[in-house]
Amino acid sequence: MVRVAVLGSTGSIGVSTLKVIERHPERFRVVALAANRSVELLEEQARRHEPDRVVVADDEAFERCRDNGTHWAGGRDELLALAELEEADVIVNALVGFAGLELTLRALGAGKRLALANKESLVTGGDLVLSVLEENGGELLPVDSEHSAILQCIEGCEPEEVQRIVLTASGGPFRGWSPERLRSVSAEDALRHPTWDMGAKISIDSATLANKALEVIEAHVLYATPYERIEAVVHPQSIIHSFVEFVDGSVLAQLGFPTMELPILYALGWPGRVPDGELRTFDPIASSPLTFEAIDRRAFPLFGLGVEAGRTGGTAPTVYNAANEIAVEGFLDGSLTFPGMARVVEGTLEALGARPVTGIDLLLEVDEEARQVARTLAKQTTTAAGTKA
Ligand SMILES: NC(=O)c1ccc[n+]([C@@H]2O[C@H](COP(=O)([O-])OP(=O)(O)OC[C@H]3O[C@@H](n4cnc5c(N)ncnc54)[C@H](OP(=O)(O)O)[C@@H]3O)[C@@H](O)[C@H]2O)c1
Repeated sequence: MVRVAVLGSTGSIGVSTLKVIERHPERFRVVALAANRSVELLEEQARRHEPDRVVVADDEAFERCRDNGTHWAGGRDELLALAELEEADVIVNALVGFAGLELTLRALGAGKRLALANKESLVTGGDLVLSVLEENGGELLPVDSEHSAILQCIEGCEPEEVQRIVLTASGGPFRGWSPERLRSVSAEDALRHPTWDMGAKISIDSATLANKALEVIEAHVLYATPYERIEAVVHPQSIIHSFVEFVDGSVLAQLGFPTMELPILYALGWPGRVPDGELRTFDPIASSPLTFEAIDRRAFPLFGLGVEAGRTGGTAPTVYNAANEIAVEGFLDGSLTFPGMARVVEGTLEALGARPVTGIDLLLEVDEEARQVARTLAKQTTTAAGTKA
């Protein structure tokens, strides 16, 4: 029996993880759950899965559910402690944003298997995460469809046999739109993703293609592949989850109808494959045609800015990530326009540059600094134009 702690259980990945676990009670058991503020859903999940520990990270939200018993706790320290829980074999990090980095470091520091959905951990803390992983003998399994696809393609290969990685991108809800047309899109339009049903932040990142830049950095870190050998291509059907080209010119891809339940199940069951009759059977005819397009970097500048931040290295990806989180918040609350998001991120990167990463304290500091700069720029972008920009 594999004992699983699902952290961020009330989000899109968290809920899908619990669905997968529920289908395999003979293999997996939930030993801990955690969320930030969604107390009602967390209570419902706790009744259903009967975990040993439940944590509400937000102190105020925890006040609303104090009566649930001593196995419930509140606060960020309690959340971080779950990453090291002795009774857990696998930690699922399904938090969104930079808030997930410390959890990743704590889980790997305790030598756990980490099923990592929180891509921002690898984007902001890449080298740090890898050194903690190496020092403590843990395991890092990606819960991102593209990176799970890559892992499935390279299993059994030597790293030097990989020539190139090609990540696929759905293109989001605004694929093919001109920069002019993108000026007036709303958050509601952006949240309507054509092929994936996800949390708000990653849905906006998919619409701007910032998500693909984060994934390029994630692939660079996970698979020790230089940036010049990682590409991204738009594939609107989201059937091929990524390609790997080998030195002999052969190309492997992993395919399937879009569902996060498959990469979740793969990470939980790795290195084996777990039979699961609930996942939709692949049908090549229903999936055709499969098409590919280049990313429009002019319409979606957050892609190029993110990849460039990755290439720059040091603290640049942390600055990019923090500014992007602030920009997404601004777009969701209606204070920034779609193109305004890229202006805020670009301005923040220009203002802060990059420093070598010396440890988590520096990353926390840079993240905070970048958020402040991005907030100021977002406010200026809004007020300078008289309306939102
Ligand atoms: N959704 C997908 O299909 C998908 C696919 C690939 C990768 N990912 C990655 O997976 C991660 C999660 O995405 P998602 O779409 O599942 O996000 P989501 O729906 O917004 O859920 C985020 C989860 O994290 C919790 N959380 C947020 N901030 C927290 C904090 N400061 N402390 C503790 N808990 C916190 C939330 O709790 P509350 O509910 O209480 O706010 C919620 O349970 C992201 O990094 C995303 O890029 C997602």
